[in-house]
Amino acid sequence: MKTTNTLMAILAIAVMGFSTSAMASGGGAALKHAEIDVTNQEQLRRGLTVFVDVCMGCHSAKYMTYRGLMAYPELALTREEVDDLRGDKSLMSGMISDMSPEDATESYGKSPPDLSLIVPGRRGGADYIYSLMVGFEHDPDGKIPDGNYNPFYPGGRIAMPDPLSWLDHDAADTAELEQQAHDVSAFLAFIGDPHQNERRAIGCWVVGFLVLLTLVLWRLKVEVWKDVKH
Ligand code: HEC
Repeated sequence: MKTTNTLMAILAIAVMGFSTSAMASGGGAALKHAEIDVTNQEQLRRGLTVFVDVCMGCHSAKYMTYRGLMAYPELALTREEVDDLRGDKSLMSGMISDMSPEDATESYGKSPPDLSLIVPGRRGGADYIYSLMVGFEHDPDGKIPDGNYNPFYPGGRIAMPDPLSWLDHDAADTAELEQQAHDVSAFLAFIGDPHQNERRAIGCWVVGFLVLLTLVLWRLKVEVWKDVKH
């Protein structure tokens, strides 16, 4: 009986560990769902391209080094690809925007936050990033200027000017822009915790090992006690 309980406890812990947390959004409108797969190299590389071509105009990701882009198997860029991206920055440098936070603040009124840890750092994570990207609208009250109204941002007024040009885009471009928003959300989810896939894989092995060990010990116990009267 005791063994069954132990087994159940182990299984319960395993299930708890693997169920992803579905956190609700904070404050603004209900979040849209980001379709991301942080093990999908193609999506992560597309997201990297959006990040470099668009977001890095203002934002940095200082904790993701150029060397990391080669070293993590999820991205596995070649040396040539990384050299193209980094220009004269060192391999050990983080992905730093050419725009200084001071210049950005002067232009936009607020400093663009570093995006290395934005996904773990915001409620709603990747869903929040995706929703922000495709959330620019005309302010129904007409108070907040176009490009600064975003119902997903707390308070509705965001200093970031519509990076994917979502507002007023042609209907024919909708799918492509949504894809870019999914992809950049995936990339930011990955760099927010670049060891997540490795950890999950190790976790599976550990749980498998524990289950096996429990079975072996249980058999052993039955063997040892079988001739003892109790
Ligand atoms: C032209 C400059 C500029 C570009 C390009 C830009 N951003 Fe921003 N971003 C900002 C500024 C400024 C803020 C600060 C906004 C605020 O706090 O009101 C910001 C804030 C953010 C935030 C934080 C919102 C929060 O909850 O605090 C996220 C996430 C974000 N940007 C993602 C992106 C992504 C992803 C891209 C690329 C697709 C991008 N940004 C491109 C200027 C920019």
